[in-house]
Amino acid sequence: MQDNPRSRPLAARPAGAFAGEAQVPGDKSISHRALILGALAVGETTVTGLLEAEDVVNTAAAMRQLGAQVDRDGDGTWRIWGVGVGGFREPENVLDFGNSGTGSRLVMGAMATTPITAVFTGDESLRRRPMRRVIAPLEAFGAEAMSRDGGLLPLTLRGARAPVAIDCEVTVASAQVKSALLLAALNAPGRSRIVQRSLTRDHTEKMLAAFGAEVGVETLPDGGEAITVLGEAELRAGPVAIPRDPSSAAFPIAAALLIPGSEISVPGVLLNPRRAGLLETLAEMGAAIAVENRRQSGGETLGDLVVRFSHLKGVEVPAERAPAMIDEYPILAVLAAFAEGRTVMRGLEELRVKESDRLAAVAAGLKAIGVSVEELPDGLIVEGRGAGGVPGGARVATQMDHRIAMSFLVAGMAARQPVGVDDTRMIATSFPEFEALMRNLGARFMITEP
Ligand code: S3P
Repeated sequence: MQDNPRSRPLAARPAGAFAGEAQVPGDKSISHRALILGALAVGETTVTGLLEAEDVVNTAAAMRQLGAQVDRDGDGTWRIWGVGVGGFREPENVLDFGNSGTGSRLVMGAMATTPITAVFTGDESLRRRPMRRVIAPLEAFGAEAMSRDGGLLPLTLRGARAPVAIDCEVTVASAQVKSALLLAALNAPGRSRIVQRSLTRDHTEKMLAAFGAEVGVETLPDGGEAITVLGEAELRAGPVAIPRDPSSAAFPIAAALLIPGSEISVPGVLLNPRRAGLLETLAEMGAAIAVENRRQSGGETLGDLVVRFSHLKGVEVPAERAPAMIDEYPILAVLAAFAEGRTVMRGLEELRVKESDRLAAVAAGLKAIGVSVEELPDGLIVEGRGAGGVPGGARVATQMDHRIAMSFLVAGMAARQPVGVDDTRMIATSFPEFEALMRNLGARFMITEP
């Protein structure tokens, strides 16, 4: 999303029972990776189910600027003619990733071992997010970066002229950083080895293997992983089918759990264990969610969910589960507000450097709608008010964060009084169909004054 002074506020009113089928869009993480690996492959990659949201469209535009041909057929199939590993050409203009940490960091990795220079930027939110975590390890491959003070965008990355394989440990719990290094390793002669202590989402590893790269994953005695990639790889193009996004599914699921009498189905959702932490937590909270027709597709597990209104109870979420539900804490905090008893969430320091400081944004939002919450350096303690017990009746500041906007709109659907958000434009970065899809299930929105 580009900077634009005009906001688009919206409020959600208390809604009647939700019913119907929620066909949420394609997974954002896998969509970015399909475009990038397609652009690095030899031949034509076809992608079905791609998430057509601003973040992913910006990655597609970056792939075009780097020399790949990226087209969309009338039926929604995307076709990518790749340039081969090491084949990116120097972009003539700045690469603008809008709101997307994933797009910007993965593309930095993908070009860091190719002898071209590119300038990276993004919107006001992305320009506040830390990039040193990715450029420092990319420099070990031989790339050079010049950023604003503090490792902020805009930055210029000069790809390595003579890349070398690396052996390094990812020191932050970040799939974006890990993925950037795995992509950089593709064009570095020799075998690179990347160690992660915290098991973040593994879509890059899986998709690299599916494209024919030599990728190895070894479990370490402490439970971490060492991932190896053989450089000077040749990636083979092929078809990719993107499963539906569990992080987007979380919003209709939450609304159905919170609104009495609701029952909805959510077909074809990605159930990768490294993304399914919310479902585990919700089961512990007493949520009625049935998983049907569990199946494999393109190396990923999918299933159809049936979700019914439930009386939830507060829980302690194990800190080790954080990577498997890192994007779901804002909506979990809203669910916890409607639960009976206290919910404790820890191990969440990474939430401070997302599209917004999500711990601060969620705590402020919950307070505004009448919920007691304690903000910890690395987490939140939410005092649940029970089903139907949240007052609502406030407007929440979204801080340019799509997930804060969607989470508090869901709160408004189940609270006693409407809940508004100051801006809904950022929702288009990940889930452009959100309003229409929620309205079809039973949501009632009203447009409010800026
Ligand atoms: C993502 C990784 C996570 C997540 C983001 C998507 C990815 O970020 O929050 O929405 O696709 O690799 P971090 O790597 O910063 O934890």
